[in-house]
Amino acid sequence: MHTDRNALFEKLWQDYRNVTPSAAQIHRILGAEEGQVIINDHIALRTFNLPPVGLDALAEHFLALGYREGGEYHFKGKKLYARHYEHPDPEAPRVFISELLTEQCSPELQAAVKTLVAGMTQEQVAADDFLYSGRHWDLDYDTYRKLLEESEYAGWLAAWGYRANHFTVSVNHLQHFETVADINQLLKDNSFTVNASGGEVKGSPEDLLEQSSTMADRVPVKFRDRETTIPSCFYEFALRYKKPDGQLYNGFVAASADKIFESTNASM
Ligand code: NI
Repeated sequence: MHTDRNALFEKLWQDYRNVTPSAAQIHRILGAEEGQVIINDHIALRTFNLPPVGLDALAEHFLALGYREGGEYHFKGKKLYARHYEHPDPEAPRVFISELLTEQCSPELQAAVKTLVAGMTQEQVAADDFLYSGRHWDLDYDTYRKLLEESEYAGWLAAWGYRANHFTVSVNHLQHFETVADINQLLKDNSFTVNASGGEVKGSPEDLLEQSSTMADRVPVKFRDRETTIPSCFYEFALRYKKPDGQLYNGFVAASADKIFESTNASM
């Protein structure tokens, strides 16, 4: 496991940027080259709830860096469970980790996913580079399509493996933009597609969190039997409000996150 938080997030960012060309472009549009420091509100990771790759195994990497457990979230329709982790350092990105509750899925999906993770070891999952190590299994296109038909989440995870599913810009820290709607307008003016599921701005000041995201980039992926273009990762934007005690809200809003998951949907 990494002992340097910045080193871990830099590696995660490099890997994410390699498969998400729009992230670097948006970074530039937000003023990264004119000295605007882009602070990450959070990153998100996905996994299956099977040993040795369950949510807790991924979380170990962050607990080792001084993170502590935050809220938990249930996504019944998508058969997902998630937890967030936060760090005492307010500049440290929050971490949102979800897992697919495979036992609620069809026997076919369960069998396919068990085959994918069957060769994985605890040592691999604990390795420094695990969180940005990508796919650990061989995958044919037909299996990908079948997983995707039942669960967009399962299809994405089977194809992409372990890496940041998205990075999220903290709008609170941007000097030239104040609202999520401003960001959405900037994205559209620059020909990016904003995820409109549940509305372009998800959440409200009453929820203490407003979010939006691009739709995932589409990039070529090698399957065992072909190479084809599928959704990779997306970029998210979050604006947090203060709780009555004056502290910024640190949690997530399940109803909003539910729609954000759809940013990687293959069928648009
Ligand atoms: Ni997110």
